[in-house]
Amino acid sequence: MRRKIVAGNWKMNKTPSETVKLINELKPLVANDDVDVVFCVPAISIIPAMEAAKGSNINIGAENMYFEESGAFTGEIAPNMLTDVGVKYVIIGHSERREYFAETDEFVNKKVIKAFEHNITPIVCCGETLVQREQGVTIDFVRQQIKIAFLNVTAEQAKTAVIAYEPIWAIGTGKVATTEQAEEVCKAIRECIEEVYDTDTANAIRIQYGGSVSADSAAELFSQNNIDGGLVGGASLKPDFGKIVNYK
Ligand code: PGA
Repeated sequence: MRRKIVAGNWKMNKTPSETVKLINELKPLVANDDVDVVFCVPAISIIPAMEAAKGSNINIGAENMYFEESGAFTGEIAPNMLTDVGVKYVIIGHSERREYFAETDEFVNKKVIKAFEHNITPIVCCGETLVQREQGVTIDFVRQQIKIAFLNVTAEQAKTAVIAYEPIWAIGTGKVATTEQAEEVCKAIRECIEEVYDTDTANAIRIQYGGSVSADSAAELFSQNNIDGGLVGGASLKPDFGKIVNYK
């Protein structure tokens, strides 16, 4: 049985002091020993978020990371900067980074490899545009994203990874994919992992759905065979996140 993982993606929201306030507010609401709870916050808020989350079940994650160890990469965050303060999860390849910051599948792959080298669990994002869905190439496209993201990643590593399937047309739009659409693609991703690795790896890897997840849609989505939780944007900044974590 795979353990559920519900992660909040705060994106570029909340100052460090607002972060502390919100975590204190959400802390009692997201208590749940059966689910891994992760708040991925902007880099500048990671340390205060860690402090605020102390003693709770909240894990603090990063929203991005670079694939080099150190050096002349102005503005980037190195993996050992994250591990130094206790970060265990990092979102890699979010569609907003792919779209606005020109992240390619090759970049995503380098970051995934680097995260594993540092024992950080990557939350690897994939998902199609509305045009791709209408063209009927969703599964082909997502399979390609996953295959490239996991190039040269071992089965042992892949078993511990998290994949977030996020149809781009459902992100921040209030337009959540139907449960059938979400389950269909998450199942296809698991089959792709089985092809690339083996059944054990496919059974172990956790696959989230993301895209306008709300307190209303979480229970049905998270009870699908191949959906092991969610990556939540907008609703992760509200008390509703407690309802999403405690979806049962
Ligand atoms: P949303 O964002 O829940 O606001 O749609 C999800 C995401 O981008 O991870």
